[in-house]
Amino acid sequence: MAKYVPVGDAITPIVLRIVEAHPDAPARTLARRVVEECNGAITLEQARSRVRNALGVCGAAKRKESAAKHLHRPARPAGHRYEIPKSQAEPWLPFDLGIVGRVGILSDIHVPYHDETALRAAVDHLQAEKIDALLLNGDWADFYSISRHEKNPKHRNFRNELAAVRTFLKWVRQEFADVPITVKLGNHEERWERWLFEHAPEISDDPIMGIDNWCGMPALDMTLVKDKRIILAGQLPILHGHEKGNGISSPVNQARGAFMRLHHTVLEGHGHRTSTHSEPDMMGKETVCFSTGCLCDLRPAYAVLNKWNHGAAIVTVHDDRSFDVENFRIQGSRVRQS
Ligand SMILES: [Fe+2]
Ligand SMILES: [Fe+2]
Repeated sequence: MAKYVPVGDAITPIVLRIVEAHPDAPARTLARRVVEECNGAITLEQARSRVRNALGVCGAAKRKESAAKHLHRPARPAGHRYEIPKSQAEPWLPFDLGIVGRVGILSDIHVPYHDETALRAAVDHLQAEKIDALLLNGDWADFYSISRHEKNPKHRNFRNELAAVRTFLKWVRQEFADVPITVKLGNHEERWERWLFEHAPEISDDPIMGIDNWCGMPALDMTLVKDKRIILAGQLPILHGHEKGNGISSPVNQARGAFMRLHHTVLEGHGHRTSTHSEPDMMGKETVCFSTGCLCDLRPAYAVLNKWNHGAAIVTVHDDRSFDVENFRIQGSRVRQS
């Protein structure tokens, strides 16, 4: 069956429809489509002139009298080619502690639901071992009141929680007056930013709204590490543990779960359990994963039965960036190595 061949002004709607459907295409390409659809009723040059008219690139006078101003676009040279747009991705780089010596690691304290005895025992041990740097490796605050989970109104007092966190950080600085202190965000502290996005999006990116500011860190000379960045103690990467997202659970222990997921030596908290998993590859290179215990209440209402244990770690970084890990448990107020 022969195609319908539009004539005269019947071509204008076709031109407009094609230009509207492909607003970024080159004029010549659009003109070819017009000629095709008109079954050769107009020449390529005629079609191109109509397309250019529709695009508003035929001079100011024609642009003025054009009926389809929404299709206008700035003129561009013939043969114009697009560049790859600039990426807005931000680099995700590790944060190197830059320490040679002993790094004390305290994880999952969950203030104000911390265990005072276990916390005291961990700090006593780190002091006795004369650490050179301290890392609070995430979930140092619980931020129960601003979580998305259902909350008991009795415990919902964010002002009190913040006050307890500020006092806790002051106490940490007092106990470790002379060492650099690095503070990493865990999933619980990330509740702060999520809460801001929901309740005060307009000012959420103002530095004054930062969790470090609200918790009083600048005055305590503590360094905040956010954005799920890996922390490096020599060659040992340290995570809080929530960075890898949900997925493979740990069938035997958390350290093995970390190995299955990352296939790289790592130390992490988050699971509230002390565990170690080592595995050599075919060439004998050993990968060792560690998970550290927590320092919070072991029987919270939302998980009264669990496999958690108290514990913390000391990583000794040598001159050549190699390291040793002391991943200790705490029973009552006793530090246990086995
Ligand atoms: Fe935790
Ligand atoms: Fe966590």
